[in-house]
Amino acid sequence: MKLHLLVGTMTGTAQLVAQELELVWDDGEMRVETLLMDQLDSAVFEREGIFLIVTSTYGQGDVPDNAKNLYEDLKAKRPDLSRLRYGVFGLGDRTYAETFNFGGKRFDDILAELGAQRIGERVKHDASSGMLPEEMAAEWGVGWLALAKESAAVGT
Ligand SMILES: Cc1cc2nc3c(=O)[nH]c(=O)nc-3n(C[C@H](O)[C@H](O)[C@H](O)COP(=O)(O)O)c2cc1C
Repeated sequence: MKLHLLVGTMTGTAQLVAQELELVWDDGEMRVETLLMDQLDSAVFEREGIFLIVTSTYGQGDVPDNAKNLYEDLKAKRPDLSRLRYGVFGLGDRTYAETFNFGGKRFDDILAELGAQRIGERVKHDASSGMLPEEMAAEWGVGWLALAKESAAVGT
């Protein structure tokens, strides 16, 4: 089984989350590939496997700069993603009350619109909570991996 982690980040926190998940998940049976979203477009979703979007939030609830190309390409090309299974690990800060975790929400909304099915709930890490996102990811990742394996076993 293959898992692709797509990372949207401005200052590297989301990348730490992906690195932690890679350590937790890469057990030989599971092959994990982490890709920074820079340079990616919607064709990345043609790869076999399950996807996890790991992204922070910037500006007025926008996706980070390195995620813009992928996000805009999905909106412009609107590929049929009905075979896609994905999860979302969002990073944000609750002090931005109006736009809390909108980066992850934006990807979740567009992927669902294009027919993809989310595995589990969308995660909303809060930088003002004091909990380290990579610690949250390590705990959450165990349960999510089980769901992802179930989903892969059932097929599409
Ligand atoms: C200029 C700026 C704008 C931000 N805007 C938002 C926002 O609108 N909503 C939100 O939930 N978090 C917002 N954040 C918080 C970041 O998403 C959060 O700190 C995240 O952990 C950063 O992850 P990164 O290092 O991977 O980019 C903002 C942070 C900065 C510095």
